[in-house]
Amino acid sequence: TTRQPLVAGNWKMNGSQVLLGEIAGALVGYQGKAEAVVCPPFPYLAAARAALPASVQVGAQNLSDQAEGAFTGEVAGSMLSEAGCRYVIIGHSERRALYGEDDALVAAKFAQAQAAGLVPILCVGETLEEREAGNTESVVCGQLLAVVEAVGIEAFASAVVAYEPVWAIGTGKTASPEQAQEVHATLRQTLSEKSPEIAASTRLLYGGSVKADNAALLFSQSDIDGGLIGGASLTADSFIAICQAAQ
Ligand code: G3H
Repeated sequence: TTRQPLVAGNWKMNGSQVLLGEIAGALVGYQGKAEAVVCPPFPYLAAARAALPASVQVGAQNLSDQAEGAFTGEVAGSMLSEAGCRYVIIGHSERRALYGEDDALVAAKFAQAQAAGLVPILCVGETLEEREAGNTESVVCGQLLAVVEAVGIEAFASAVVAYEPVWAIGTGKTASPEQAQEVHATLRQTLSEKSPEIAASTRLLYGGSVKADNAALLFSQSDIDGGLIGGASLTADSFIAICQAAQ
């Protein structure tokens, strides 16, 4: 495979200027095989771009579905670009579950991200209830296809997809490498039915309780191209260890 692994740390609503200093300090001279991306809350984005080495990218955790205007409290993709972001997480399960983001809104955000020159990290994932009902494939492929159908498969030439089983997020329950690989293969097959070339080049990340001690086995699966890391991205040592686990 020619896909460069990617490891993104999603701080969620955690962190501080102090944490940024620690992570930036630990990443000085970072030259790992994986592309490392740090995704702190909005107020730290510009400081993150200034503090991190050029070999490490910065990502946001959300953006508006609108380009500009009277939308108090929202942040536009163009602003994230100007702050130095390269990536933006879209459709995280916390956004879907806690803030009512549906597939149409997720697709609109995806389009705004690309219009602003950002690379979307599109999150999909099933709940425990959906898995136990045998609906994992239909849920995750449905979430993916909703965006593919809205923006076109060509848009995925510059996008990343993250599979995050909701039951594995922040719970300490990781999908087994085999469980994760199975879903990743299905997602890649779904893209392949639209474009084999794009399916072969799109990076598919796994997220959900990835830690320094389980990352290597997950990342060694043939369709897992890195990870989206929550809790373990909040400690410099574990984030770097996970970045280095991607080979
Ligand atoms: O975006 C990150 C995921 O929600 C995973 O979070 O590593 O704390 O389980 P976690």
